Amino acid sequence: MLNLEIIKNIVRKNERLVNFYRFLVFSGKLLSHDLFNFEKLFLFLKVYPYTMVSYEKLDNAYNLTKAVKNDGVEGDLVECGVWKGGCAAVMAFTARNRKTWMFDSFEGLPEPTVKDGERAINWKQGEPKGRLISIDRCVASYSDACRIVKILKLDNVSIIKGWFQNTLPKTKINSISVLRLDGDWYESTKFCLESLYDLVVPGGYIISDDYGCWNGDKVAFEEFLKSRDIKINWIKIDSHGYYFKKPL
Ligand SMILES: C[S@@+](CC[C@H](N)C(=O)[O-])C[C@H]1O[C@@H](n2cnc3c(N)ncnc32)[C@H](O)[C@@H]1O
Repeated sequence: MLNLEIIKNIVRKNERLVNFYRFLVFSGKLLSHDLFNFEKLFLFLKVYPYTMVSYEKLDNAYNLTKAVKNDGVEGDLVECGVWKGGCAAVMAFTARNRKTWMFDSFEGLPEPTVKDGERAINWKQGEPKGRLISIDRCVASYSDACRIVKILKLDNVSIIKGWFQNTLPKTKINSISVLRLDGDWYESTKFCLESLYDLVVPGGYIISDDYGCWNGDKVAFEEFLKSRDIKINWIKIDSHGYYFKKPL
């Protein structure tokens, strides 16, 4: 019997094979779960080239957006760290008449800091000074995000280009029903939480794409929640992603 780990190791060495394998996994899950939900099926296939998140994470963004609409939980949808915009586009498409905000540098990730841990620092290869300069990882362009907005004919989206630390203080958002944080690093996540957590309405949702993946993201959440003495129940999305409902 072929060992799955051996196959994965071979596949990891070839980027085209990785992408093909990823698409097979994604489409397999999509077809097995959503074969007769045509709207969702076409939506997910259209956004697939514009996102790096898993089927489970897209499904979670879709379901939480539906939930806040159905439950009458007011507020805009926000994603910080959109890359090419695919996951945020799922939220915008599903929310329809609610505003969706897409924040990204569109220059890639900034430098990590020691709080992001050895794996992040080695990946960056250099001093982990936390400067707001691109380390050329996870780079997408503003026009990539505009393209998926155009493909889905979305008219409820604002795309805000720049470092969160510069753009969030200048952006006026009244209230948030779903806040999705996907900025990977400690400083990015901490800044988003400090800027946006209070705007999330009770009963709204906060999603961490990287709580189970990057150390800095987890530390930022834990420190923030502890500093405010906020008790929450994390709900697992997949091996990396978690979310919680803001307590009433
Ligand atoms: C993992 S990618 C996001 C993936 C995306 N959610 C998707 O659907 O594929 C992380 C993104 O966070 C952005 N980012 C991280 N820290 C940032 C910061 N401080 N300011 C602006 N953008 C940041 C990067 O540019 C990158 O596009």
